[in-house]
Amino acid sequence: MSEICKNWTQWLKQNRFAGQTPEMIEQTTRWLEAVRDVILVYAEIKPYETVLDIGCGTGLLAFKALEMQDCQGKVIFSDAFQDCIDDCKKILDELGITEGFELLKSPVEHIALPESSVHKAVMRSVLVHVVNKQPAINEIYRVLKPGGKLCAFEPVIRSNTRYWEILNPAFIENYTDFKNAENEIMENPMDSLCNFDENTLKTNLEIAGFSRPEVKLQEVSSSYVVQPNMVREWFINPPSPNQPSTKERFLRYFDEAKVEKYMQDVEAFLTGRQINLKTNAVFINATK
Ligand SMILES: C[S@@+](CC[C@H](N)C(=O)[O-])C[C@H]1O[C@@H](n2cnc3c(N)ncnc32)[C@H](O)[C@@H]1O
Repeated sequence: MSEICKNWTQWLKQNRFAGQTPEMIEQTTRWLEAVRDVILVYAEIKPYETVLDIGCGTGLLAFKALEMQDCQGKVIFSDAFQDCIDDCKKILDELGITEGFELLKSPVEHIALPESSVHKAVMRSVLVHVVNKQPAINEIYRVLKPGGKLCAFEPVIRSNTRYWEILNPAFIENYTDFKNAENEIMENPMDSLCNFDENTLKTNLEIAGFSRPEVKLQEVSSSYVVQPNMVREWFINPPSPNQPSTKERFLRYFDEAKVEKYMQDVEAFLTGRQINLKTNAVFINATK
């Protein structure tokens, strides 16, 4: 467990915004709402349906689904971690919502629901934290009713811009060592964050039984000027509460002094510079 981030709700409320300017936080928030809305439009949520939000976190999808149903159906807030369930319950209480929902502490690999019990399963950025995707997708298929839909979004980190692509080797000591290490990290089959792409997900969905699942790749380009401290924050903040930070990953290859020097070089090179980044993601729309 990271010292910097104790649990998922802390990560969702604080760590994911680490190093971002207020303007970037605003942009990220708007982007999250846009992603949420695409997932829920795909899901075609209707009143009286049972909607399962898998890995609900602080309820980004589930609260909007509740609103769309006007609390006249059943939205199941499910997550593997109790802090997320507790946080959603707190918000529900604050909003005075007493019906139209259920809370379920359950991992996606073993969803504590009967077979064919859910009309729609919605999910954002959850499989990216699950090492073995196939059993999780099989389980989602199991709980969906025939004709039910899985609508989801997952980042495809493996094909994002890598550090070495935005650095100039002339300014970075041990550039090749770190380039090789970064490539190895990104291709580790046991790392949930990068052991998949749009093609493997499509295959997982087909194996589970979804017929002709839609897996739409979305490539987003962004461009901004790197602010002071941003680089350090990228390196020390974990991608989730259970995962090592980028710095900790590099420490598996090199000693502290070498990693620190690399971080200093990267910081000195990038700070104040305009960078262009490519971030890939997929939208899934699959029917049982
Ligand atoms: C990046 S957060 C996304 C939260 C929320 N879906 C959203 O869009 O804001 C990932 C979520 O997946 C949950 N999670 C991680 N591993 C899980 C698993 N094996 N089963 C179910 N949920 C899991 C975490 O607790 C966290 O809430």
